[in-house]
Amino acid sequence: MERIDTDVVIVGAGASGLTAATELVKAGRDVVVLEARDRVGGRLWTGDVDGAMLEIGGQWVSPDQDALIETLDELGLETYERYREGRNVYIAEDGERRLFEGEIFPVPARTEGEIVGLIEKLDQLVAEIDPEQPWAHPRAKELDEISFAEWLGTQTDDEEAKLNIGMFIAGAMLTKPTHAFSALQALLMAASAGSFSNLVDADFILDKRVVGGLQQVPLRLAERLGDAVKLGQPVRTIRWNPESPDAGVTVVSDGFEVHAKQVVLALAPILYDRISYEPPLPRLQHQMHQHVSMGFVIKVHAVYETPFWREQGLSGTAFSPYELSHEAYDNTNHGDTRGTLVGFVSDEAADEVFRLSAEERKQRILESLSHYYGEQAKHPVVYYESDWGSEEWTRGAYAASFDMGGLARYGADLRTPVGPIRFACSDMAGKGYQHVDGAIRMGRLVAAQALEALGARA
Ligand code: FDA
Repeated sequence: MERIDTDVVIVGAGASGLTAATELVKAGRDVVVLEARDRVGGRLWTGDVDGAMLEIGGQWVSPDQDALIETLDELGLETYERYREGRNVYIAEDGERRLFEGEIFPVPARTEGEIVGLIEKLDQLVAEIDPEQPWAHPRAKELDEISFAEWLGTQTDDEEAKLNIGMFIAGAMLTKPTHAFSALQALLMAASAGSFSNLVDADFILDKRVVGGLQQVPLRLAERLGDAVKLGQPVRTIRWNPESPDAGVTVVSDGFEVHAKQVVLALAPILYDRISYEPPLPRLQHQMHQHVSMGFVIKVHAVYETPFWREQGLSGTAFSPYELSHEAYDNTNHGDTRGTLVGFVSDEAADEVFRLSAEERKQRILESLSHYYGEQAKHPVVYYESDWGSEEWTRGAYAASFDMGGLARYGADLRTPVGPIRFACSDMAGKGYQHVDGAIRMGRLVAAQALEALGARA
């Protein structure tokens, strides 16, 4: 076991932890980053699968995500637009395939009216929510006691409208069924992206990608940090003395014992209990962390010799609340002659297909894609399912959210430090919540707070 002495030890080399480390180094502090995996990036992972470059984790950048955009500029990374020429596909309950342009799905006039009304209503409510403190809304408790499914039921009896509006927050964002999270949690999700309309607008929320992949962000940050980043180092124990907090903290991984003044836990809250704390974390944290859980989605890539859907005048953008893959897009890489589609299978549907054999699951998912794009979709040259549920150091996708009532009850406490232990990750962000932008924001915030604490000690 090698001993290291430093100012701040950061647990987790995702976007959040590496941003915090970078900010601390810029301010002249020493850091050590301990990462459990043998790679950096956490939920950012650009992989090579059978010769295809695939974004196994996060990939899209939207125009409001200024912390991420600043980081991309600083690192000299280029972006390109998602392909969006041509018509989109919507599949109705009876299986009819309808082509459309714009954001509103081709549904019966009454349903369309209900969808437009719900978007307006949600935009109004979202405008009242401060994403940094949704629990401060005067009706926060009430909105946190009703599931999003129930709330939708109080607004309309149109099932197709409920399914579609539910999909934008449930399958597409929190990746939990609408009955499993509150209306307040749904409003936070939309407020974190600026408005509910922004979530509905695929051209906004899924606007750009990074040339070479979004994992370039953590890779380049880690490269600058050099030897300070230690891979293959799951942190097992954190020790500190509450009687003399100025004595600092000892962080023990498999190969290192790091003595520091502060520690930043830059990992999803659901993983905090993989670490032993001496003394144990306080009662509030023990309770609170049990009310946060990861969503679950399978991100499916299918690569073809050509982007054949473009020849049919299709954009590749496809939605249906009735399909196994509730949304799918053209995910062709910059400058690639091959065509790539990406589809998503969320929450209960993901559970269901993971009970099948790998071959049956592939067939079911490709069948669903073929409903949008035709028979050719059944024959990719490369096929890959991201399975974040099996990743020991993540355990779900895309991110974590509170259970019913948890956000109003505990939200304000999630970022509160415990002695020398501070917390940062996309799962506790306000603006950019659940996104890389939020991870970067939290990394910056926690670095500023750690610097202040270090300054006070000097
Ligand atoms: P993250 O989980 O990335 O990092 C935590 C790190 O801590 C990990 O590297 C982990 O290994 C490590 N760790 C955990 N326990 C440890 C221990 N005990 N000791 C040491 N290390 C430990 N976002 C977006 O903006 N646009 C998008 O398109 C998408 N799409 C998307 C798709 C998929 C499939 C996923 C899974 C996620 C997205 N996201 C996204 C979300 C985005 O990727 C995510 O919010 C951020 O990358 C999270 O960054 P953090 O640094 O907060 O956590």
